[in-house]
Amino acid sequence: MKKIIITIDGYSSCGKSTLAKQLAKKLNYTYIDSGAMYRAITLYFIQNRIDWMSHEAVTTALEDVHLDFVPNSLTGLSEMYLNNENVEHLIREMIVAEKVSEVAAVKEVRDLAVAQQKKMGARKGIVMDGRDIGTVVFPHAELKIFMTADITIRVERRFKELYEKNKNITLEEVKQNLELRDYIDANREISPLRKAEDAIILDNSHLNLDDQLQLVMQWVEDAIMAH
Ligand code: DC
Repeated sequence: MKKIIITIDGYSSCGKSTLAKQLAKKLNYTYIDSGAMYRAITLYFIQNRIDWMSHEAVTTALEDVHLDFVPNSLTGLSEMYLNNENVEHLIREMIVAEKVSEVAAVKEVRDLAVAQQKKMGARKGIVMDGRDIGTVVFPHAELKIFMTADITIRVERRFKELYEKNKNITLEEVKQNLELRDYIDANREISPLRKAEDAIILDNSHLNLDDQLQLVMQWVEDAIMAH
């Protein structure tokens, strides 16, 4: 069957990666979490005390940043490697989440990430999620999805996920972090989060995972037929 590019953009904690992984498995496509790249660069900047407000410091630092997606031999899912070290878990920590939107707004950072992302789509058969995938990375993707969900529902979902790892986290902290990230992501100068004109909106506030997958698989079939 013809392989296509599927892009999933939307606010933080809408379930983009859950849907992307389900689709990749069902279609035997590669799933790429573009946010992991911004998180890994943020981790590098924090670890090496790089001032990301300085263009000069960022340009020099990025010369030493090498990012790879390597499939996990058990799950088959790609994991993020920063300079040959698996950082898949580290990049999900709150300390990274608190800073990543600032770092992702820096032009040099986006140029590096976007160039690498575009290359990954060359052979199609890819599902990539993020904020600017349908607008900037793959403007000609065959299927573009823009995900959204009520903020209260997103906060609860994210809280559950983080609480399992860190019992000290509060609902209020999670809410503040999500709202701030949404604000920065949607209002930054370069490639702000916005719906591509030809993207289909998926509001999953009241959809369960099975129904959501069934709905989107229909869109996938339609997109394959149309191209
Ligand atoms: O999807 P995520 O929450 O892991 O993304 C982390 C941050 O990276 C998010 O606050 C916005 C930024 N991001 C981006 O600017 N562009 C992307 N394509 C993906 C993520």
